[in-house]
Amino acid sequence: MPTKPESEVMDRPAAEAAGTAARGFISVRNLKTYFEIRGSVLDRLTGRDAGTVKAVDDVSFELAQGEVLGLVGESGSGKSTLGRTLLGLAPATGGSATFQGREIVGMGERDLRALRAQMQMVFQDPHAALNPAMTIEQSVGHPLIIHKRAKGREEIRRHVAAALDRVGLSPPETYLDKYPNDLSGGQKQRAVIARAIVLDPVLLVADEPVSMLDMSVRSKILQLMIDLKDKLNLTYLYITHDLATAKFFCDRIAILYLGRIVEIGEASAIYEAPKHPYTRALLTAIPDPDPTRDIPRDLPRGEIPDAAKPPFGCAFHPRCPMAFAPCGWEIRDLRDLLEARWAGMAEEAHQAERALLGTIEAPDAPEPTSRLSAAPGATGEALLALLERIRNDDPAEPFWTGVKAMRAGDGCVEIDWHPPERPELLDLGAAHAACHLHNAELRARYGKAG
Ligand SMILES: Nc1ncnc2c1ncn2[C@@H]1O[C@H](COP(=O)(O)OP(=O)(O)OP(=O)(O)O)[C@@H](O)[C@H]1O
Ligand code: SF4
Ligand SMILES: [Mg+2]
Repeated sequence: MPTKPESEVMDRPAAEAAGTAARGFISVRNLKTYFEIRGSVLDRLTGRDAGTVKAVDDVSFELAQGEVLGLVGESGSGKSTLGRTLLGLAPATGGSATFQGREIVGMGERDLRALRAQMQMVFQDPHAALNPAMTIEQSVGHPLIIHKRAKGREEIRRHVAAALDRVGLSPPETYLDKYPNDLSGGQKQRAVIARAIVLDPVLLVADEPVSMLDMSVRSKILQLMIDLKDKLNLTYLYITHDLATAKFFCDRIAILYLGRIVEIGEASAIYEAPKHPYTRALLTAIPDPDPTRDIPRDLPRGEIPDAAKPPFGCAFHPRCPMAFAPCGWEIRDLRDLLEARWAGMAEEAHQAERALLGTIEAPDAPEPTSRLSAAPGATGEALLALLERIRNDDPAEPFWTGVKAMRAGDGCVEIDWHPPERPELLDLGAAHAACHLHNAELRARYGKAG
């Protein structure tokens, strides 16, 4: 596949980021959904009350009618919030999202309700999605009443029976008067899907629709969804943290990390030639020897960061094996590095190093120079000697690429950082990826080898 120059930043609107076909059925541009969070009482007393979780942060993509776009990412990456924002269930903070040319952001509840007849959501848990006190006929028929699509018991029953038949609950008469508890997990999810299609929608947002089902029925439900898509000319946004099912199901895939798309492209391109280290890490987590597990756990280097205080620069940098100078190194990374080092050391040696170091205060925003205090009684020189020793023990540790200079000060070490750069989605031909490894200028500036 011919590749474009590596440093070519998208020169067309970011919304075209996912392909070449005429899109615009759904058009999302710089969409943001932020949640203001209030800390605990203790947090508020200590002045740490306010925080913003950028659940969806400057997301752009386009979706053509009849396409299946997978939204893939670990827990907390913003998949559900993005789906809910598109359906007007979570208010956007900024940006734009149009559905068949109509702007959803800022739309009033009355218009949204009308629009939702065409955009339906299939939720993860079929047991919770169906009211146990309602018959299948009542549950599946409910949207017909809400949207005044059918009058009288007979007409509703006819519509519901047709929907049940379409999802493989046939003959429908067997199921109409049953309650959810009479059905298996797979049958319940079929009923949930029947309810989602009963109004003849054009878009389904399917939020982990098979992750709570037994392995034995997952592929049957996915196959049903593919059949329905073809028969009813549906378009899907398919939310999952399982890249293996996404491969089976999606035309294109968007990989999300902490609210941002880090890679988007044709499913085949994502699998065959992933461009982002996070995508590569997700892919190495499958196939999974344990079939009951669909959350990748063997990602390198640590946990998903706190969404209210995302890492600077590239949010993936604390976990990225390829990270280099501009990726956003900061004092929190030093804290993680020290914790990992001390966890592997004998208690006495650990305590000797610990005794040199004061408290590490993480700033709210990037700073060119951080002041790392020495413990009371320890000198800046001794602390600097410790940092130099740690660097010599593992000079290949990516953290040190971010450190421009270190010097001893009065009771502290001053650390100068290379300025963090936020990676933007770059056009790499078959896919777009937000990673400095594809930025030739930054690679050249920092001498990052290929
Ligand atoms: N109503 C809310 N108020 C505050 N924060 C929220 C709210 N809804 C979601 N969040 C936060 O937004 C971020 C994204 O959450 P979201 O549920 O969209 O992630 P997800 O990718 O769907 O995760 P999962 O795979 O666990 O379902 C998380 O940090 C979450 O805690
Ligand atoms: S920009 Fe690329 S290399 Fe740098 S941390 Fe992010 S994913 Fe890794
Ligand atoms: Mg979710």
